[in-house]
Amino acid sequence: ILSKRIVVLPGDGIGPEVCAEAVRVLKAVSDRFGHEFQFDYQLLGACAIDATGAPLPEATLTACRRADAVLLGAIGDPKYDNDPTAPVRPEQGLLGLRKELGLYANIRPITAYDQLLAHSPLRPERIQGTDILIFRELTGGIYFGEKGRSEDRASAYDHCTYHRDEILRIAHRAFRAAETRRHQLTLVDKANVLETSRLWRETVQGLAPEYPSVALDFLYVDNAAMQIILNPRQFDVMLTENMFGDILSDEASVIAGSLGLLPSASIGDAAALFEPIHGSFPQAKGQGLANPIATILSTALLLDHFGLLIEAECVRDAVQHALNSGVVTPELNPATRYTTEQVGSFITYAVLDIHDCEMH
Ligand code: IPM
Ligand code: MN
Repeated sequence: ILSKRIVVLPGDGIGPEVCAEAVRVLKAVSDRFGHEFQFDYQLLGACAIDATGAPLPEATLTACRRADAVLLGAIGDPKYDNDPTAPVRPEQGLLGLRKELGLYANIRPITAYDQLLAHSPLRPERIQGTDILIFRELTGGIYFGEKGRSEDRASAYDHCTYHRDEILRIAHRAFRAAETRRHQLTLVDKANVLETSRLWRETVQGLAPEYPSVALDFLYVDNAAMQIILNPRQFDVMLTENMFGDILSDEASVIAGSLGLLPSASIGDAAALFEPIHGSFPQAKGQGLANPIATILSTALLLDHFGLLIEAECVRDAVQHALNSGVVTPELNPATRYTTEQVGSFITYAVLDIHDCEMH
């Protein structure tokens, strides 16, 4: 029996709706398995700006630092999107939180679900069986380098910097993950052009002897963007820097059939945050259209992180059950009209009901 404190950051747009379903699922897990999860709700993003003026209020940061894990919905509001002069932006809340908590490893599993193969615009026979684990560096690179404008504001710059140690700590995690999977690690970079990429290559190659069972290969990011669509089954673990990982993971979501299915874990040495890879989808806010599965699967990663592997598997089984039963939100099947809440209820009851949650 475990007792854990979980900070919930519902955020903006559809964030609160998908978080509500994920929390119900976690409560079902704690009921069924006898754990104690305490939920502490805090503000982040546009809702935090509206309430306090800051996208990452001090109270939120303090609570997150003390928590055993953080569950995040989504942040972002269109009122900031076309205003490049806005003094504060919701995204600063998320980026600040990642940086402050030291969440350097963002892990994004990409799975092709058999039940949804027909749903992807890609050919079913090409994507069937895809199982990729993307390791995206999350606290460095161009996202966090110095940025600015010239005095006349006519030119702008964003510096991309990496230190060897920033590469080493995530690379170790990616190698270790590959050891538990299909023993293949692909580093994605642009080493034919960028000096930071050459540092990544040299550093990761230097680690390879410590992981003799893992086959390491390298791919330029432009080629990787093509290969991931052309033949996604060729990949096991992919490791890449912050911005390449941002772009490739959205691209890879097409394989799963919907951005609304993909969870992520952001891990640091002292903290962990779990969030869907999708954004706040403001157009869908309050309409019950949002797919809660990405956030629910993020709770499975959270349970894995707590070492609750059977519980995590139980959540994944429950999600499979919903997909098998066609209980999905309209972006996956416009005909059935299940709402966010109905999909969440179905999965919650399945968590309570499934007879034997087995490790697969
Ligand atoms: C993501 C998002 C964020 C990112 C945005 C909201 C800052 O796109 O988590 O992938 O670019 O990292
Ligand atoms: Mn993104």
